Amino acid sequence: MRRLLLGLAALAVTGCEIDSRILQRMEVQPKYKAYQENDFFADHRAMREPPFGTIPRERPAGNPGVTAGAVDGVLVSQVPIQLTPEVLARGKHKYDIVCSQCHGVLGDGNSIVAENMALRLPPSLVALKDKPAGHFYQAITYGYGVMPSFAGEIRLEDRWAVVAYVRALQRSQNVPLAEAPAQVQEQLRRQTEEGRP
Ligand code: HEC
Repeated sequence: MRRLLLGLAALAVTGCEIDSRILQRMEVQPKYKAYQENDFFADHRAMREPPFGTIPRERPAGNPGVTAGAVDGVLVSQVPIQLTPEVLARGKHKYDIVCSQCHGVLGDGNSIVAENMALRLPPSLVALKDKPAGHFYQAITYGYGVMPSFAGEIRLEDRWAVVAYVRALQRSQNVPLAEAPAQVQEQLRRQTEEGRP
């Protein structure tokens, strides 16, 4: 029994040694590190430029109005993706998860976080209804002042869905009664009359 244990222990030790030798060899293989010199290239730098015309994966290619929210430095005024009830529902879903705790479920800036925040407060997004759609997209994508970017939490198309939902919030709290569907107008009139003393 004792011999068996000793044998196992010896195996375990050699096992470890072989493992660490393999790792060691990979660790010390010849390679260039950032900022090192390399005479193979005319500029003697090991670091290379990306080949001409390549686009980093994290910078999406395509219409800059959609990917950056602006064309030639001018913010796009409207949401540049096709809107459907599903897109709006997705925007609401993401807004409720990522934005509402600061800007309020209604986008009016009323939230527990806002009540307790010492720095600049999250503003009402409803009050910003005259700002172009690209302004909201860029705030989500790049951050705004003390607000960080939420590009990691919300992928590109969903960011526009959130902007579309913010537009819906802005409209829902500023719509004149005459523009509401007849049924809703009737219902609201009845409620007002019933509420009268
Ligand atoms: C942790 C709290 C917080 C969250 C979450 C948050 N914001 Fe903000 N947001 C702020 C604050 C604070 C400011 C004001 C920053 C400043 O002025 O420095 C701001 C500013 C903005 C502005 C610019 C307002 C202006 O004056 O033009 C927009 C647009 C905006 N947020 C949209 C969003 C959207 C959309 C989301 C969700 C994707 C979101 N925010 C999530 C806190 C938050």
